[in-house]
Order: sequence, then structure tokens, then C-alpha cells
Amino acid sequence: MNVLGIETSCDETSVAIISENVIAANLISSQDFHNQYGGVVPELSSRAHLQIIIPLLKAALSKSGLNLNQIDLISATAGPGLIGALLVGLTFAKGLSFSLNKPFVPVNHIEGHIFSGFLMNDKPEFPFLVLVVSGGHTLLLLVNNFTDIKKLGTTVDDAAGEAFDKASKMLGLGYPGGPKIQNSAAMGEIGKISFPISELKDPFNFSFSGLKTAVLRFIQNHNSLHGQLSENDINDIAAAFQAAVIKALIRKTEKAINSFEVKSISLVGGVAANNVLREEFQKLGDKHSLKVVIPSMDFCGDNAAMIAIRAKQLYESGSRFDLDFVPFPGLTNQHFS
Ligand code: KG4
Ligand code: ZN
Repeated sequence: MNVLGIETSCDETSVAIISENVIAANLISSQDFHNQYGGVVPELSSRAHLQIIIPLLKAALSKSGLNLNQIDLISATAGPGLIGALLVGLTFAKGLSFSLNKPFVPVNHIEGHIFSGFLMNDKPEFPFLVLVVSGGHTLLLLVNNFTDIKKLGTTVDDAAGEAFDKASKMLGLGYPGGPKIQNSAAMGEIGKISFPISELKDPFNFSFSGLKTAVLRFIQNHNSLHGQLSENDINDIAAAFQAAVIKALIRKTEKAINSFEVKSISLVGGVAANNVLREEFQKLGDKHSLKVVIPSMDFCGDNAAMIAIRAKQLYESGSRFDLDFVPFPGLTNQHFS
């Protein structure tokens, strides 16, 4: 089976083809021009998706050596995401499905991330715990099989990636914040500064807004006492911030490991690209003798390969969809709540 995946939920246009079980193409075009605005501008994002989607599809077909008539299943992200951006990929995929007379599968973006470990040679084994850390979402879930997914916890305020982006902005490091903080933190002194980690009543929920405020207060105090932050100060703050986020993520995951019988743990989403988080997550799995699956870098950030593989799983589990499927909130083909 040849599956086409299309992802246009935010600032990456991506087209992928999975041929049998091989990722024949996974092309990602990032809209770097948003950097100058300090965040994603929705209308500009939709327009850029519209311009690149056909050339990207042609490039993916040529990379995979297939033609459109050889595609058996067509999928696109149905949400959550920016509505104008989603509509570009979704209507394009529906149009292809109609004209080629091939089935269409709308994919929930978070479920794409949840199952992105299945793009690796060594796949998660059920039941598994998955920590989803992206720009818009922070979730801890128990996955029993491809359609039985239980949400254990989520953030009560900012997502982990959003916290990285906001802290980076405060430190003047720019957007997207994750990679900038990671690089700055690598040069900082760990332990010189320490930021608090929120403890919530619910054992599996997260909160990052207190940490964000602590960083802001630290910068304000420093500015009034010592003037502008030096490069070393910025690096030390980045190191302390990153350590606090990672500690919170690892602590909650460990609580879940201790509460549920699982065979593996998986770390997914844009923030899973963070090298220190990857190391700590691996150590956590090793400590509890669990299989650890962390997708390679190309599959952490937004990509269409994860959309295609999720579509394949749903189609093979018997799910069928109409072309009148619309990406309204609450109607994004989500299997957990
Ligand atoms: O999954 P993703 O590409 O998009 C969403 O679905 O949100 O995640 C993007 C997020 C951004 O907030 C970005 O700052 C963060 O992932 N990110 C990182 C790293 N690389 C990207 N966060 C921490 N460390 C990184 N190396
Ligand atoms: Zn994402």
C-alpha cells in the first residue's frame, strides 16, 4: 500500500509517501520568514502552504519513484492547528482523493505525534506511555493499542515548547526558542541559578507559566541591580530554565511509569528534538528497564510521515471517512479526551 501524507497545521508544509512499510519520501518546507515577527503569522502561513504544496507533492512523487495513480490512500492533518493553514492541506488532499477515487483519511495532529515512534525501525510496544511535547501541546498518555488511548495529564497553562519560545524571547535569543535555548544552555553553568518547578494536585498535569514568570522576575531584578544581561548570564539562565522544564517532564513521566504497567515509553513532538531531554528520557527508561522509543530528529518536529503512518493504522483498523469531513474543533478525528 502506498500512502500519501500531507501536513499543513502550522509553519511547516510537509508531504510524505510511505510505500509498503518504507518511508519513500518525507519532504518538509519550513516557513523561516516568521522569525522576523517573533511568532507564526497565520495568514502568511496559509499563503505559503498554498504556494509550495503542489511543487512539494511533485518532488515527493519523484523522490519515491511513484506516480499519482499508484497512491492508494490519501491523508492530511485535520487539526488541531491554524484553521486557514489546515484548510490548505485538507482541501488539497480531499480534491486528490475525489479526482483519483482513492480513500481519504483525516488525521489528528497530536495522534500523528503520538504514533511517530512507529516510523522508527524499533517501534513502541503496547501498552506504552507517551510524552507529547510540542509548541502547542504537552500531554502524557497511556496507549493500549492503535485506537485505545487514555490521556493521563496535560498542561494547565503553557505548552513546553511555548515556554521555550517565551523564555527565548525574554532572553533576546529569538524564535523558535527551543533550539536557541538548547544552544545557549549548553554554554551555561548548570546549578548557578535554579528555578522552581510547579507541583500540582493532579499527579500527571504540568504547569510552565510559573517558571516563565520566575525567568521574567530574575531578568528584571538582574537588570535593576546589575544592568543588561551579559552573554554568560543569558547562558546560565537558559541552562537553569531548560533544566527545570526537563525535570518537570521527567518527574511526571516517572510517576506514570510507577502507576501503570507498560512495556515501553516514547518521547515525541518538537521539543523531543532537545538533546538533554532525549538523554534524560533514555536514562529514565533504562532505570525502569523499559524500551525507549524517541523518533529521529526529522520525525520530532511537524512532518507528513507521521500523518501518513497514522492514516495507515486507522485505515487498517477499519476506519473509513467521507469527503464532507470538516476540521471544526472537536471534529478532528481524535481517539482520546
Ligand atoms: O511539534 P512542533 O514542530 O510543532 C507543534 O506541533 O507545535 O513543535 C515546535 C516546538 C517549538 O516550540 C520549538 O521551540 C520546540 O518545538 N523545539 C524545541 C527544540 N526544537 C524545537 N524545544 C526544545 N529544544 C529543542 N531542541
Ligand atoms: Zn506538532
